[in-house]
Amino acid sequence: MKPVRLALLGCGTVGTEVVRLLHEQAADLAARIGAPLELAGIAVRRMGRDRGPLPVNPELFTTDPLSLIKRDDVDVVVEMVGGIEPARGWLVEALRSGKSVVTANKALLAEDGAALHDAAVEGRADLYYEAAVAGAIPLLRPLRESLHGDTVTQVTGIVNGTTNYILSAMDATGAGFAEALDQATELGYAEADPTADVEGFDAAAKAAILASLAFHTRVTAADVHREGITEVTAADVASARAMGCTIKLLCIASRGPDSTGADSVSVRVHPAMIPLSHPLARVGDAFNAVFVEAVAAGQLMFYGRGAGGAPTASAVLGDLVTVARNRLVGVRAASESAYAALPIRPMGEA
Ligand code: HSE
Repeated sequence: MKPVRLALLGCGTVGTEVVRLLHEQAADLAARIGAPLELAGIAVRRMGRDRGPLPVNPELFTTDPLSLIKRDDVDVVVEMVGGIEPARGWLVEALRSGKSVVTANKALLAEDGAALHDAAVEGRADLYYEAAVAGAIPLLRPLRESLHGDTVTQVTGIVNGTTNYILSAMDATGAGFAEALDQATELGYAEADPTADVEGFDAAAKAAILASLAFHTRVTAADVHREGITEVTAADVASARAMGCTIKLLCIASRGPDSTGADSVSVRVHPAMIPLSHPLARVGDAFNAVFVEAVAAGQLMFYGRGAGGAPTASAVLGDLVTVARNRLVGVRAASESAYAALPIRPMGEA
């Protein structure tokens, strides 16, 4: 059977795990898909970087992503570079030319997911991005597909592991924010520059993607009211405890009528007190959890590891199997491109 040929863009923590899993599970994946997955090339920024003993031919590496994407023998582009540009240009080019795209790029999807969805329609191509939000937790596909016949009214989640680790440590030990951040850095949860996590930018990007899929609309990161956790003090956490609550950085996206009765959405990210009896209060360490409420389905909870090379690679592989199978039978998933933008409710009406 003719292989499905992949171009990987980026070979960092997630990319190396994807390469390893593709190698280790090659036979199983081929049986599941009905054709082998084969690496056509791996585009990286720097050639010489130590990526450990990777099970690939070194000749597959290139520093020219665009030429790799444009090659006729590439069927699927897997983007794990991140950032808005040049990733947007690469993915639009790939989709317009009919190549399937699997991406983990939450910043790009939250800023300009519409450009990608439109390009997917133009090229009749698949666009999947389960790894962009909450790592291994199957969340986007349930919102995008399983709940598509229902009406989702609210999505409430802990979608940033770093801040959840920090707030959980503050609650457990009475530490202040700076001390808990130091612990998170030592353990490798927080990045050298933790701004995107602690100021809520990472969670806001994820909230925009979740709200867009849950409510079939277009929400960008700029539409999300955002507040980080840097101002949360040990005293705030102690007062919350005294009231039978804990503090979590929540993303809260809801759909409902605005003050004029018009259907609208509200999307916000901020520290919030939640009662200890709420399922989200028990989500500790660097775990993620998302609570979804829908008219017919009722309440659903999704929980697991929201970051890390292997969990995120699991989500990428899941998408790869789907797009590869679709290519073999000649179908494409319906695109979210047709979604009209619902009005965003002002914060006061959240
Ligand atoms: N920095 C993110 C987190 C990584 O802490 O959740 C996953 O997007």
